[in-house]
Amino acid sequence: MSDPIRIQFVCLGNICRSPLAKVVFRDKVEEAGLQEHFKIASSGTGSWHIGDTADDRMRETAQRNDLSLEEHRASQFEAADLERFDHIFVMDKSNLNDVLHLDEDDEYGGKVRLFREFDPEPDDYQVPDPYHGGRKGFERVYDIVERTSDMLLHRLVDEYDLEEHVRNPSK
Ligand code: 4NP
Repeated sequence: MSDPIRIQFVCLGNICRSPLAKVVFRDKVEEAGLQEHFKIASSGTGSWHIGDTADDRMRETAQRNDLSLEEHRASQFEAADLERFDHIFVMDKSNLNDVLHLDEDDEYGGKVRLFREFDPEPDDYQVPDPYHGGRKGFERVYDIVERTSDMLLHRLVDEYDLEEHVRNPSK
């Protein structure tokens, strides 16, 4: 089998949006029986929360949707990740700037994209930061991440010719 496709989701703190994107996308990959074809990670551009568990409100949101963030521990995005990963999907434009800032020789910009480019209803192409808001904001992030992950997986299955490996192509 060919090398797995290495994907990293990036937000600011790595305790809310990108950890959720990782488990939602991974769930879809597993549902499609494609787990051997992907390596999926997440990180934050900031260092404040390194080693922390996911935010309680996001853990509850995940649980309500039959997913678990209990294993998550936050980590920080580093310049070497630009080389290590094939695709880096950032949650907002500030994350995009911060990640591109680490690409000192402008080598890897083609790998870095706003996650919501794949959202059928992209609004301003950013996943809103729910950290300082209420519970509704977390549910909204879940809805965005859920439908965007669906579309993203379809696009990657196309791009990497994985259709023949999909367990249930009608899903
Ligand atoms: P995240 O949310 O980037 O989705 O993990 C945030 C988490 C923490 C902070 C900001 C956003 N913070 O300022 O500590």
